[in-house]
Amino acid sequence: MSDLPRAVTVYEVGPRDGLQNEKALVPTEVKADFCRRLLAAGLPVVEATSFVHPRWVPQLADAEELLGLLGDEGRALPVLVPNERGLDRALELGCRHVAVFGSATETFAQRNLNRSVSEQLTMFEPVVRRALAAGADVRAYVSMCFGDPWEGAVPVEQVVRVGVGLLELGATQLSLGDTIGVGTAGHVGELLTAFNDAGVADDLLAVHFHDTYGQALANAYAALQHGVTTFDASAGGLGGCPYAESATGNLATEDLVWMLHGLGVETGVDLGALVATSRWMAGHLGRPSPSRVVQALAAD
Ligand code: HMG
Ligand code: MG
Repeated sequence: MSDLPRAVTVYEVGPRDGLQNEKALVPTEVKADFCRRLLAAGLPVVEATSFVHPRWVPQLADAEELLGLLGDEGRALPVLVPNERGLDRALELGCRHVAVFGSATETFAQRNLNRSVSEQLTMFEPVVRRALAAGADVRAYVSMCFGDPWEGAVPVEQVVRVGVGLLELGATQLSLGDTIGVGTAGHVGELLTAFNDAGVADDLLAVHFHDTYGQALANAYAALQHGVTTFDASAGGLGGCPYAESATGNLATEDLVWMLHGLGVETGVDLGALVATSRWMAGHLGRPSPSRVVQALAAD
């Protein structure tokens, strides 16, 4: 295992990717506590919310209120911004880490952003330029990197084209999303190698796996072996995407951390505090966490 990295970054997306998909409305105070508890559990990055149209994602319509409750702590947390209106809202509150989110496929670009693949880049261009000029860094997501519920398997070259396009706009990190969780470990290696061949180094890449087919942890291991050092995950395995119904929860942060610690890879995360947080959140949501590690440690 000596060729694995000594430490990696776990990029927590539960408050955003997790809660954007919950039918129940979670009170803003509970969301703020969720973010605080995740930070206190040692997660180095906690994506807090999205400045999207409140009609498109009503679950996150309280973005301003949430950041208000979090104060200085909140300004340090990344937020999603699809367009200039979203960026204006985030910058007004002093946010310093923003993320745009594009699609590798035409159907999902239309359904999620009301834009074509090419129009999404036009929409993001001023967002990235103005965010960088304001001193913010800009993560760029690419969704449907492996398969798409409407278009089927997604060719690797198509994903690389969109990803490189986002980096050319000036994005500082690319997160490769398996939005509907259909990817498998060999495909992960193939996609990462194709990015490397296009001149994109592993340190610019993050991976974002959903666990629909139970492959998320195996896929994370494949990415770790490849050389990726940033892993998106969601506390307790919350998650999904309201515009891709076949998307289920993200890779559970606890499952990822259990594997990484077992491999001797440092994360800085206190697993006990994280499990307690996911159990507390499951209480608010009224259903148990799907994470196997949360279930196993809760039974201890
Ligand atoms: P649109 O309808 O094309 O918007 O939606 P528009 O640009 O035509 O503007 C229409 C009106 O909306 C205008 O108001 C704008 O001001 C307003 P009017 O002049 O008519 O009064 N508006 C806004 N208001 C507040 N905040 C904004 C905003 N933008 C416009 N930011 C839009 C385009 C991008 C806004 C819409 O499609 C949208 O909000 N989409 C968000 C969808 C979303 O959040 N999906 C989930 C996140 S992606 C994901 O989960 C995948 C990921 O996890 C990775 C993976 O798993 O693959 C990241
Ligand atoms: Mg996602």
